[in-house]
Amino acid sequence: MRHTPATLIAQQHMTGKLSDMTPSAPHGFNDALVQWNERFSRPGYLFGLEPNAFLVRQGARLARSSRVLCVADGEGRNSTWLAAQGHVVSAFDVSSVAVEKARTLAGQRGLAIDYQVAGVDTWEWEAQQYDAVAAIFIQFASPAQRPALFAGMWRTLKSGGLLLIQGYTPKQLEYGTGGPGRLEHLYTAEMLRELLPEAQWLELAEHEAELAEGSAHRGRSALIDAVARKP
Ligand SMILES: C[S@@+](CC[C@H](N)C(=O)[O-])C[C@H]1O[C@@H](n2cnc3c(N)ncnc32)[C@H](O)[C@@H]1O
Repeated sequence: MRHTPATLIAQQHMTGKLSDMTPSAPHGFNDALVQWNERFSRPGYLFGLEPNAFLVRQGARLARSSRVLCVADGEGRNSTWLAAQGHVVSAFDVSSVAVEKARTLAGQRGLAIDYQVAGVDTWEWEAQQYDAVAAIFIQFASPAQRPALFAGMWRTLKSGGLLLIQGYTPKQLEYGTGGPGRLEHLYTAEMLRELLPEAQWLELAEHEAELAEGSAHRGRSALIDAVARKP
């Protein structure tokens, strides 16, 4: 059965799946989910169809046919790019509307990707599964959620695996060209070092760049790029 965005939103509301509150959301997890579903229900692709440029830059680090997990993958721009490179990709997002669009995109591109609708708090972070985990703009996580989220991403990586992170730094509040707009959600290098104490840092750089990712990430941006290798 095909679902329209409206029926998917209603179904997600009705299932108990969404009872785990996201403390970061101003009015709780359900409101945040409704907002994401509504944003993704609009025509087009909120973050565009092109893969994230940081992820593309890091692509050369991945061995052929790597097993990659895309966390909070949205509408599939990153998972489909990774699969098109020949990797074996799994991806999840809390928004059923986004996942449905990602599935459609993968179908159009002739790519087989394992997509799931799930939140980071309920995802099973099975140990030692992936050669790489892509965490591209997943700053919906509050300070309270972050340690478990980062511990989960770390656990699910194989030894030698890479955690690829791009996010906004506090300076992004001056630009307002994307991101959560809340200081406590933004990353610093020090914060990532604390969250991932065992990491070997192949890259950990705060910098500025022009982003052109759909309508949501556009213009001068204060970013952090991080590549953490699990020993
Ligand atoms: C800024 S978007 C980035 C999407 C994608 N990573 C990209 O770069 O195109 C943040 C994504 O996080 C998802 N999200 C929000 N809260 C979540 C949660 N608790 N668990 C999983 N995904 C969540 C949203 O639905 C949205 O797709």
